[in-house]
Amino acid sequence: MNHDKPFLRRNKLPMRYILFALIAAGLGLSQVACGTKKDPVNEGNASAGESSLSDAGPSEVTYTERVKALLDDNCNKCHSSAVQGASREGAPVGLDFDTYSLAKTNGKRANREIQSGAMPPTDPLSRNDKELFQAWVDQGFKE
Ligand code: HEC
Repeated sequence: MNHDKPFLRRNKLPMRYILFALIAAGLGLSQVACGTKKDPVNEGNASAGESSLSDAGPSEVTYTERVKALLDDNCNKCHSSAVQGASREGAPVGLDFDTYSLAKTNGKRANREIQSGAMPPTDPLSRNDKELFQAWVDQGFKE
């Protein structure tokens, strides 16, 4: 019985190294892929006029410059960690957008409601604001 053990051990170690090497290689590859990632907004046509996207420059939509104000103006009356009880008007507790971190965490869910027009409950966002939020999500929630 005891004879088996050293044998098993010796054979397990290289397997671990192989796995580790594979994982390391995978990480390296994904970093290369990130470096060559193309800009999703820049390839669209730059439509003339006062689109809120063109105001932001050719591509970047950041939380600080655009998204924070959008959420403050349209959502955080109800969806804010500073708003509690009845003042939330039924907005689910904890589903808040009043910091970058919260907005990012809940961003995909927020976007679904924004694009469908379900949120805000009274007054759907303008097309520009919907596009702005969509671009923010597509670009990976830039701060
Ligand atoms: C007047 C208060 C109010 C405002 C303003 C408001 N919401 Fe809501 N929100 C609610 C209520 C009430 C619910 C729960 C009922 C429901 O889902 O319709 C809710 C639910 C949600 C949900 C969960 C839906 C689900 O089923 O997953 C999301 C996401 C959401 N809101 C996002 C937003 C976003 C984004 C905005 C701004 C663009 C916004 N809300 C503005 C009151 C509000």
